[in-house]
Amino acid sequence: MTTTTAPAAGLTTATPVLEASGVIMRFGGLTAVNNVNLTVGQGEIVGLIGPNGAGKTTFFNCLTGLYVPTEGTVKYKGTVLPPKPHLVTQAGIARTFQNIRLFANMTVLENVLVGRFSRTKEGIFSAILRGPGFHRAEAESREKAMELLEFCGLANKAEHLARNLPYGEQRKLEIARALASDPGLLLLDEPTAGMNPQETVAAEELVFAIRDKGIAILVIEHDMKFIFNLCDRTAVLVQGQKIVEGDKETVQNDERVITAYLGAPLEGTGTPEADADTSTTSTEADK
Ligand SMILES: Nc1ncnc2c1ncn2[C@@H]1O[C@H](COP(=O)(O)OP(=O)(O)OP(=O)(O)O)[C@@H](O)[C@H]1O
Ligand SMILES: [Mg+2]
Repeated sequence: MTTTTAPAAGLTTATPVLEASGVIMRFGGLTAVNNVNLTVGQGEIVGLIGPNGAGKTTFFNCLTGLYVPTEGTVKYKGTVLPPKPHLVTQAGIARTFQNIRLFANMTVLENVLVGRFSRTKEGIFSAILRGPGFHRAEAESREKAMELLEFCGLANKAEHLARNLPYGEQRKLEIARALASDPGLLLLDEPTAGMNPQETVAAEELVFAIRDKGIAILVIEHDMKFIFNLCDRTAVLVQGQKIVEGDKETVQNDERVITAYLGAPLEGTGTPEADADTSTTSTEADK
């Protein structure tokens, strides 16, 4: 186990929850993520923005073990993560996907129970034998899953099939399922895509409530109003490189950011990309 050096006496430099260093992801001749360093501290909400194709989702895939970065390391609470999705989840990082990935023919509750699986101790034999340990664990998991549905405002939909939920609620269900693994860090990839303005405000409140539970958040969004309302700090990716990082004013006033967005306003409801149906531009399976 790798740990960071202890801070000098008197300093309160807490170990970051996430510390990505020199992350590079190449696909043949294309460098989708180019030497990105990013940290997320305890209690922080950090934004990740950038034009379409900037490498945001690819960076998330590198953080979560879906891709093995060409170079670089990802640490969670001071420990280097192996690039394997289940080990990353077990360590404490959960995510949602730009292209919603729910089990469409399972109920809302069952979808959350799947997310809980990485935290239950009962193994496959226990499940087959269905002894007392299994039933106790199952009851606990259902209780926890119902609490999460309540928290995300979906308790009244617990027995509905996931595919019958409106789009905005499917996004909330993805968040509930991610929370079921008891993460210390939640990665959200375009959580408000396809939501109406009321749903977007509700999503904002949900993200604050998650932060208040002590979970750090890294969020990708094209909706600048959402990002700047929520985030303590925002990093901007352009063509795989982090060009700026800072608070709202720093990002909004940076010439390179303005150029990257081709003069599109950074305030208001979003960039032209935000208004487009991202599902039509997002064809890769790993988004
Ligand atoms: N598996 C892959 N194989 C080859 N190229 C890929 C792969 N995944 C992503 N890319 C490419 O990497 C670049 C970054 O894509 P990525 O999906 O990370 O962008 P993004 O910033 O998330 O964009 P958007 O805002 O549209 O979601 C794009 O040029 C994309 O085509
Ligand atoms: Mg993306």
